[in-house]
Parts: sequence; C-alpha cells; structure tokens
Amino acid sequence: MGARWQGGDLLITKDGRVRDIDGDPIARTELLRSSMNLSPTEFRKGLSRRLLALIPNAAPLENASEVHRRDVRRRDEEGQVALTYCEGRPYVVDTKAITAGRAEDADAREWLDKGPLPLVGPLSAEARAKLAESFGNAALFEHASVASFGRFALELLAVGAPGDLVEAAHQAALDEIRHARLLFALASAYSATIVAPGMFPFEGRVEISSNLADVAARTIREGCLGETIAACVAAEQASAAKDPAVRMALAQIASDEARHAELAFKMAAWALRVGGPDVREAVSKAIEMALTEASEWKEENHGEADTLAAHGQIGAMAVQVAIERARKDVVEPAAKALLSQSHSPLESTPFPPRVRS
Ligand SMILES: [Fe+2]
Ligand SMILES: [Fe+2]
Repeated sequence: MGARWQGGDLLITKDGRVRDIDGDPIARTELLRSSMNLSPTEFRKGLSRRLLALIPNAAPLENASEVHRRDVRRRDEEGQVALTYCEGRPYVVDTKAITAGRAEDADAREWLDKGPLPLVGPLSAEARAKLAESFGNAALFEHASVASFGRFALELLAVGAPGDLVEAAHQAALDEIRHARLLFALASAYSATIVAPGMFPFEGRVEISSNLADVAARTIREGCLGETIAACVAAEQASAAKDPAVRMALAQIASDEARHAELAFKMAAWALRVGGPDVREAVSKAIEMALTEASEWKEENHGEADTLAAHGQIGAMAVQVAIERARKDVVEPAAKALLSQSHSPLESTPFPPRVRS
C-alpha cells in the first residue's frame, strides 16, 4: 500500500501553529519538510521558552528552589494510584485513566483520517501486528482526550474562567479528534482492518468540579505534566520515524500537545492569580506530586528498541529518556516559575467576583 494524499492535511508552521492546507501540493511538501527537520532538543527548548513567557511576572527561578521537595510520600499515604504516561490528556475517573473499547463496524470508518497512509508492504506480519496494537492503544487515549477536554471546558465555565481559556479548551478537543483519527487510520493501515473507538464508558457519571483548587490541581497533572510529556515523546517519535505518513502524524500531534501544555500552564497561572491560599497549596502539591511521579516513571510496555522506530515506535529506554528530558528541561522550570509568579492585583479581588446589583 503506498502513501496517498487527500484534502484536509494540515501544515505546521515554524512558530508551531497549524494551518489547513486542504490539498495544496506546495504546502504538503512544506509540511513534509517541516516534519523531517523536527529536532526534539529544539522542540523542548521552544516549548520551554513559550511556557515561561506566558507565566506573568514570574520571579527568578532560584527563588523557587524548595517548591517540590516537601512530603513526597503523601501520594502513597493517601492511596493514590500513579498514572502511567499516555498519549495526550487522560480522562481520569477515581485516579484511573479510562478509554473506550474498540469498534470494527462500517460506521466506525468515520473515525479514520483520510490523509496519507504508511507504507506497510515491507513489514512482517508480526511487525504490523505490533504497530497496529500500539497505534490502536494510543488512538484510544487520544479519543479519551476528547472527553477530557469536554469536561475541562465545562469545569472552566464552572469556575468562571476567561473566555480565551474556554475557547482554547474547545479547540483542543477538536485537535484531539484529529489525533484520534490520525492514529486510528495508522492502526487500521497496519492491521488491514478497521480500528476505531466504541462507546465511551461514562456510565452515566460525569463529575464536573466547580472547585478552583481541584480543577487547577488536576490541570497540573493531566495538562502541565501529561501533555508536556506527550508533546516531547511525540517529537522524539516523529524525529525517529522514517515513514512520511507516520512522521507527519506524530509531528502534528507533538505540535498540538505542546499547545495543550501551554493552555494548561495558562490556566494554572490564571488560577493562582485569582485564587486564594487553597488554590496555591493545591497547585503546589500537585506540582510536587507530578514531578515526583515523572522522575519515578518506568516504561514497561513499549516494544523493543529501534526495530519499529522507522514507524514511530521508539523503544522503552528512548521513551524513558524523552520523559526525563521533558521533566527536567520543560516541566520543572515552568512549574517553578508558575509557583514563583508574583502576586498580581487580581489576587485581592474576591473570587468568584461578586455581581454588582
Ligand atoms: Fe492533548
Ligand atoms: Fe492528543
């Protein structure tokens, strides 16, 4: 099966933005070139710069050196279960990241992106099965991210967040639909069957928190940590991939996840500005736990090194190194800056703001 091109492709511009190129052959070439030039180190540097730039009035980093050193055993004492790394923002219920099951009926075909497909001909049946399995699992997590951003958007409304954050959350949900489609299409190409999501297991229960401290704390873990790691791992996978369709899908995902990480830090920065001491304490604790979790994280479920890297599946050690770099180069400095941001006049404003009568 050869790579094929159809309308609706997207272009990642140099500043990390995305443009719909809709069948334009010159723009497609540019998209391919930009993904071929992707450097994970530059990607991390750029993301780190962007995160630091959007945290208002951040104090110098050395002022925040004690931020995450307190009470790291709390997680175990409270019986919380650590999340493993997953693609994008997880949908968490009772500390567990949940996804839909798989569907294989004809209607599910609508979940498959219609863009370029990978070259599967030279691969063994065993390699194709492994790729189908890993991209299928990743696609289900991307699909769950749609639910996660849906809930996040509602919670932003519940805590009275500014309109730009609510708008960005809805936009991010659309990005996640695109990620799911890209990866379901890859999984389907490798398996030569339809791999798509079934019903999402909400089971009649979608809890929307209106507590700013809770929403901000979850944003730290799922967005600031989870999506930064997802972006950096996807950048590593994209740079290792040789197949153009896989490379472009992963480069697209890396770019979008970086923007989602920015949204998370922006939300946390806003929450710290408008919230009281309870918000600061919850964010501080969440950062501490997130950094500890990332430093203790061990990859166990990825395939063997290198053999499938040309198709975007880097080995367990490479994933672990990517996560460690994401933690040290991006999450840690940005999280410290977040907690050291100087208080703005907004902090003295009662929250939620009182409505004038
Ligand atoms: Fe995301
Ligand atoms: Fe995603």
